[in-house]
Amino acid sequence: MTAPRHFYTTADLPREALDAILDRARRLKSDEEDPGHPLAGRSLAMVFFNSSLRTRVSFELAMVQLGGHAVDLTVGAGVWDLEVRDGAVMDGDKAEHARDAVRVLSRYADALGVRSFPRMRDAAEDAADPVLAAFLRHATVPVINLESCLWHPCQALADALTIRERLGEARGRRLVVAWAWHPKALPRAVPQSAALVAAQLGMEVVVHCPPGYELDPAVFPPGLAPLHEPDPGRAFRRASVVYAKSWGPASPYGSPPDPGLRPWIVDQGRMDRTAGAILMHCLPVRRNVVATDGVLDGPASVIYDQAENRLHAQKALLLEVLGTS
Ligand code: CP
Repeated sequence: MTAPRHFYTTADLPREALDAILDRARRLKSDEEDPGHPLAGRSLAMVFFNSSLRTRVSFELAMVQLGGHAVDLTVGAGVWDLEVRDGAVMDGDKAEHARDAVRVLSRYADALGVRSFPRMRDAAEDAADPVLAAFLRHATVPVINLESCLWHPCQALADALTIRERLGEARGRRLVVAWAWHPKALPRAVPQSAALVAAQLGMEVVVHCPPGYELDPAVFPPGLAPLHEPDPGRAFRRASVVYAKSWGPASPYGSPPDPGLRPWIVDQGRMDRTAGAILMHCLPVRRNVVATDGVLDGPASVIYDQAENRLHAQKALLLEVLGTS
């Protein structure tokens, strides 16, 4: 049996494969390519351990529009909660082991999708991405990461498509990942994925964040870790893309950002420092906390293009993963 073709991070994609998916997504979006229904009779089982609007809807509609079928399973809402630790004595609240559930789902569906955020209690546990790791370990069909502790690669594909639409050739242009305050400690999957895919496109990636919030260079492939620039003047200067996002501090891990950092909001003042940058955010966004209404609804905002592009990029991905390209 050959190993299934999982999609865990965009680092799984060599440059040519990334280009091919983005180009096909562009053709599908523009109707230059009519794919027909190549996924007729094929199915995707999506397991959500967390809430989702965009990922859930865009994947289901991508499957349907390509002729296939998606099954939407929400853990805790009619689906057994899953134990993921091998060797666990299951005398607690988890009724089924991922070892069994994933193998069963692999018998039913042609591919699996999994959404699982970090618990934000133990940095080492989250760094091991335990739920995704269990699915990758036990699945006998391709697994698509619908956002995990570390990566949100499908968001990254949509982001890359959006950047290409707006900038054309992105190589050498600057993308600033602009940290913003938030009342909760959020995961780093989105900022890490945006930084990674921008670097894969050849962009200069700068993270603007307070001390203690730096992204860990060790999670990035060699040569693709972002630079950090805490000074707003230097960070935003020459920026073509501002990607607003919040995430929690490295220490104390899981604690909410310091309320004293509330002025870290992406507003027009920050956008005015750029070279006419577009404004990106993956959504959902806390308006007037992470970014102001003025910039989210302003002419530089591409947030709805990003959300729409989830559909087109994921269609191209599904055609690749399910082997019908
Ligand atoms: N951007 C994103 O993944 O949105 P959802 O959490 O709503 O799926």
